Amino acid sequence: MRAAYIEELGAADVIRYGEIAAPRPGPTDVLVDVLATTVNPVDTFVRSGLFPTPVDFPFVVGRDLVGTVAEAGPGATGFRAGDRVWCNSLGHGGRQGAAAEQAVVAADRLYRLPAGVDPYAAVAVVHPAATAYLALFVHGRLRMGETVLVAGAAGHVGSALVTMAVRAGARVLATAGSQDAPYCVRLGAAEVFDYRDPDLTGKIRGAAPSGIDLHLDTAGVNDLQSTVGLLARRGRVVLMAGAGTRPVLPAGALYMNDRSVVGFVISHATSGELAEAAACLNDLVAQGALRARSIEVLPLSAAADVHARIERGELRGRRAVLRTDRAPLAEGPR
Ligand SMILES: NC(=O)c1ccc[n+]([C@@H]2O[C@H](COP(=O)([O-])OP(=O)(O)OC[C@H]3O[C@@H](n4cnc5c(N)ncnc54)[C@H](OP(=O)(O)O)[C@@H]3O)[C@@H](O)[C@H]2O)c1
Repeated sequence: MRAAYIEELGAADVIRYGEIAAPRPGPTDVLVDVLATTVNPVDTFVRSGLFPTPVDFPFVVGRDLVGTVAEAGPGATGFRAGDRVWCNSLGHGGRQGAAAEQAVVAADRLYRLPAGVDPYAAVAVVHPAATAYLALFVHGRLRMGETVLVAGAAGHVGSALVTMAVRAGARVLATAGSQDAPYCVRLGAAEVFDYRDPDLTGKIRGAAPSGIDLHLDTAGVNDLQSTVGLLARRGRVVLMAGAGTRPVLPAGALYMNDRSVVGFVISHATSGELAEAAACLNDLVAQGALRARSIEVLPLSAAADVHARIERGELRGRRAVLRTDRAPLAEGPR
C-alpha cells in the first residue's frame, strides 16, 4: 500500500511517500481502507521527536482518519465490512499512523461516522474538537451557567471550544484578532475582545465582574499573572499549548481562592475518554453544528509539504485534509 512514512525522526523532509507493507489486524482490531487523514501540530511534534513516543520504523505518520471497514477481527464486535468509520488516536503510543491507504485500528478507538456526514468535513474536526471536549468537560469540569474564557477562539481548537461550551450552557467570552470577531460571534461567543488590545485584561474583567470559571488559552500565551487574577473562586485554568512558556504563578491568589491550574494533552486520553468525546462529536457533526472554518483537500503524497507549511504557520484558519486514491473526490479549497 502507499503511505506517508518516516525511517527516522527529523524535519518535514524525512517524510517519504511510497509503498510499504499493508498492516494486518489482530483479533480485536479493524482494518480500515483510509479515505482521508489530516495533519495536526502534534503530528509534526511526533515526526520531529519533540513529543517523545514509541515509534517503529517504517513509521506511518498521522493521527486522524476517516475510512471504510475492510475487515474486522473476530473480537472487534460491532464493525462490519463497508461501515464508514473514523479514528483520532493513531500515530503515537506504539500505534502506527493514519497517513496510508490502509490502517489497523483497535476496535475501542474506532467510531462510526453518522450517515450523511461528509467524510472530509468530519476528519477535519476530529482532533481539534476532541481536544476541546477533553479541555472543557474532562479537565475543565465545565458546568452549565459558568463563564468560560476562550483565548484564540477563532483557531481550530478555539472554535470547537466556543461551539461546545455554548451548547453546554456556558457564557463564552472570546479573544481573537479583530478580523475574526464576527466569526466568533457566529459560533456563539457572547463577547469578543481583540487580543492585541493593551487593556485586554481590564476589558475581560469588566465583562466578567464575578470572575471567569474556566480559562482556556489555545494561543499558548499562558499569562498566569493576569489570568489567575481574573478567575472566580474555584476557577480553573486548563493549559494545553505554549510548551515553551515559563509563566509566573501568583500562588496566594490561586490557593486562597480555591483556584487551580491543570494541563493536559489529548495523547494521554484514555480510550474511554476519547469514546465519550467521539459521541459528542458525532452528535454535533450530524447536526451540522461543528465544522472547520475552511478545508484544503490535497493528495496524501503532499504530507511532507503540509507538515512544512504547518510549521511555517502558513495554514491560518484552514485544515489540510489529505486524501488517498481510495477517495475519488475533488481536491482544492472547500
Ligand atoms: N493539548 C492538546 O492536547 C492539544 C491538542 C491540539 C492542539 N493543541 C495546541 O493548541 C494550539 C492551538 O492549535 P490550533 O490548531 O487551534 O491553532 P490555530 O488554529 O492556529 O489557532 C490559534 C489561534 O490563536 C490566535 N492567537 C494568536 N495569538 C493570540 C493571542 N496573543 N491571544 C489570543 N489568540 C491568539 C490565532 O489568531 P491569528 O490567526 O490572528 O494569529 C489563532 O486564531 C497549538 O499550540 C496546538 O499545538 C494542543
